[in-house]
Amino acid sequence: MTSADDAGIDPRLLLGDFSSSLWIPRYRAGTWGPWTLSVILMTGARGYWGKTYGMAGTTILTGPSEGSDASWMSIVPAEIESQEIGIAAAYGHTAVLGMGMGWCAANVALNPAVERVTVVERDPHIIELIDTLGILDQLPPEARAKITVVEDDALAWRPDRRVDSVQADIWAKFVEPQKWDDVRRIQTNTGATSLYFWGQEMELYRLACRELGHEPERLDRATIIRLAESTGLPLVHPDWPDYADRIVAAAPWWTPKDGKWWRAE
Ligand SMILES: C[S@@+](CC[C@H](N)C(=O)[O-])C[C@H]1O[C@@H](n2cnc3c(N)ncnc32)[C@H](O)[C@@H]1O
Repeated sequence: MTSADDAGIDPRLLLGDFSSSLWIPRYRAGTWGPWTLSVILMTGARGYWGKTYGMAGTTILTGPSEGSDASWMSIVPAEIESQEIGIAAAYGHTAVLGMGMGWCAANVALNPAVERVTVVERDPHIIELIDTLGILDQLPPEARAKITVVEDDALAWRPDRRVDSVQADIWAKFVEPQKWDDVRRIQTNTGATSLYFWGQEMELYRLACRELGHEPERLDRATIIRLAESTGLPLVHPDWPDYADRIVAAAPWWTPKDGKWWRAE
């Protein structure tokens, strides 16, 4: 079950007691430049919102990050849950920044509110990986036809047509010191009317910690929305009544363990 044959592996079969209505392509193991796609055994994994799930394994993309190799993407509950808000909010012409395993881009294209998807990826090896494995070609033709892939730096890319929404995932970690600066650059360059970035809940939690001077035990929805609006960015927030509770439940798992992490820029 853990080796990928020519037909590829269906990662859904490895998800154990986690389920998702989102689309998942088949992958095959291999190496493309500094990037490796492999299938590994896992007995369990924590979802983005803090719950644990029994699992059998996953398909994982590792590649260069800060001088060593890091996991950039895998088909696990945390990755699925941390991208589904942005996938659901996408509409019109959506820019998906960062291709990775192509999973998010494919699901954005499947959203009926989305007319066109531009994927911006800086690494040609990743584009080759997605091409060789035919990841996007596994989509229904009408969804596949929405997608254009551009090789460029997402922090410098300027669209040649209006972008309605952005889904940005160009980082290896949920919390990174320069994330807010990166996101501001993306917003300035794209002029999108709606923006979701991977891990944005943990970065909003950081803003809450700074305002309070400590990590909160509780947060309410009005505070999260006020903090999101204070950034001046058109950040997406779901209408879930428990959005703030979920953020507080997720934060211990996805933020650094150093008690003062939130003070840093
Ligand atoms: C975390 S992965 C994206 C995973 C993706 N959301 C998925 O569903 O598979 C990040 C991707 O962003 C790319 N990337 C990193 N920095 C970038 C940049 N400045 N511009 C464009 N792509 C970048 C990486 O090469 C990698 O393919």
